[in-house]
Amino acid sequence: MQVVTTKADLAQALQGRSSIGLVPTMGALHSGHASLVAAARAENETVVASIFVNPLQFEALGDCDDYRNYPRQLEADCDLLNKAGVDVVFAPSVDEMYPGAHNLPLVWVRTGEMGERLEGASRPGHFDGVATVVAKLFHLARPDRAYFGQKDAQQLAVIRRMVADLDFPVEIRPVPIIRGVDGLAESSRNQRLSEVERGQALALSRALFTLEERAQSGEPLDLAGVRAQLGASEGVRLDHLEIVDPASLEPLVVDSVLDRPALVVGAIYVGPVRLIDNIELLG
Ligand code: PAF
Repeated sequence: MQVVTTKADLAQALQGRSSIGLVPTMGALHSGHASLVAAARAENETVVASIFVNPLQFEALGDCDDYRNYPRQLEADCDLLNKAGVDVVFAPSVDEMYPGAHNLPLVWVRTGEMGERLEGASRPGHFDGVATVVAKLFHLARPDRAYFGQKDAQQLAVIRRMVADLDFPVEIRPVPIIRGVDGLAESSRNQRLSEVERGQALALSRALFTLEERAQSGEPLDLAGVRAQLGASEGVRLDHLEIVDPASLEPLVVDSVLDRPALVVGAIYVGPVRLIDNIELLG
């Protein structure tokens, strides 16, 4: 496995390679990322993983504790990627990705109202930052396919929309959520939870499973009731729990029994850690 830190070295490492699969990451890798790499490995001759903690997608463009405290562990990450069968790791610095004044691009990808809902309502500008860095990574790695976890459902929907709107010649491949045996969705942020907080965080996946069971058995969903119970769970601050259209992420009004495929998306805070999760209903 080759590790490169500059755009020029990435271009050289990929010269003459065919069938490229890209796995964009911010590092702090776990089994969820390994499953993205496994999916890429199965479908491409060359697998590239990027590791870049992108300041543009954090509060105040990275001038915040969430960005500063984001786990950075390049050696351990490269070890995982090597074992998973990655060919090239691209781990650039902020200066390399955003050269120039204040390390900020002038031209951004704007994600409009799709990026302003749900996660975007609590994290203004987040999806513009994600789309901008992913567009750059697509230009730099020129992948045939790119792999994104379904855990970040809104990110996946926004990237799909960007690819369609801006005609990127790349196929977006969604990869299912990996859960612990307790049901918690794998996330780099789980590292920041104490054992007690991890137990408290399970309230979110429990709420999603309840809604899934009700949808499958044709019972009324009672979203308001599930939301109230989640909000009252010990140690949990509820941000949102919504039923949305899986492609557009527009809210669906479900009066009682669900009669079409939908996505439930949720976000909670446990202590200072923000956690997201989602589940498909009748998908
Ligand atoms: O999902 C992530 O880790 C990031 O949002 C991504 C796609 C690597 C862009 O920085």
